[in-house]
Amino acid sequence: MKKVLVATDKPFAKAAADQIRQIITDAGYECLFLEKYPDQQSLIQAVGNVNAMIIRSDIVDKAVIDAAPNLEIVVRAGAGYDNVDLNAATAKNVVVMNTPGQNSNAVAELALGMMVYQVRNHFNGSSGTELMGKKIGIHAYGNVGKHVARIAKGFGMEVYGFDPFVSREAMEKDGVHYVERVEDLYSQCDFISLHIPANAQTKKSINFDLLSLMPAKGMLVNTARKEVIDEEGLKRIFAEKKGFTYVSDVAPDCLAELGEYADRFFMTPKKMGAQTAEANNNAGTAAARQIVNFFKNNDITFKVN
Ligand code: 3PG
Repeated sequence: MKKVLVATDKPFAKAAADQIRQIITDAGYECLFLEKYPDQQSLIQAVGNVNAMIIRSDIVDKAVIDAAPNLEIVVRAGAGYDNVDLNAATAKNVVVMNTPGQNSNAVAELALGMMVYQVRNHFNGSSGTELMGKKIGIHAYGNVGKHVARIAKGFGMEVYGFDPFVSREAMEKDGVHYVERVEDLYSQCDFISLHIPANAQTKKSINFDLLSLMPAKGMLVNTARKEVIDEEGLKRIFAEKKGFTYVSDVAPDCLAELGEYADRFFMTPKKMGAQTAEANNNAGTAAARQIVNFFKNNDITFKVN
């Protein structure tokens, strides 16, 4: 009997976990759970005889893959798969998939929620500002970016988008102003919401030069990955651009050094963009179905390696 391990240091909501178990067991497979595990060694020990894994931001590196000789498929229940060593997986014929779009509304709602929290001075009762009429620049117009655009329009914001992989027509159809150069997005918009993946091209790409183009009171919103930010540049922007604000769902490495900017910086206590009952359910059950379809029908839709 195939064994499917749901390895989630940050567990799914119970209803989602129950549904995942149901899908896996109905298909005739065994479903095992490893949640809130104390260290990476616990994950390595748990994969010894599993055929499939469902993960979130859990690290599946070469050590994990080497420790799992029966592993055939890893599904990242979510969008970003920078936590999986694709080369190590491919070398062992392990299929890696994600579940694109399944948690994107949750992330988008958090981005707008954090913006409101920041412009209303962390809800401290003092006079803040509004989003209506302001310009938001969506950096990467994928699944999350599209939801951000829709919600931002509801707030009455002017929406701009930059994405080298998306056509002008596709953005304009959604009522989004197409921006050809990333520099123009940063110089034109009061808010920039990041939705780029973390990869070799994007790591540290949000740097001093780009951020310095933002208006004096610009706000950077990061519900993507800490790795895309050049933190030396970020610290310099905080020091030099006195009205600059940063809200983030991903803890920067330089967190301690941002302490002095407490009124211009806000971070969620734990990455929680995708932490909703709906997103857990959508992404978790999609992952379970993808595994069943892979084993039963050899379906490799959503394969990323
Ligand atoms: C994603 O890439 O899907 C999001 O960053 C959510 O990550 P999480 O499942 O670890 O919350």
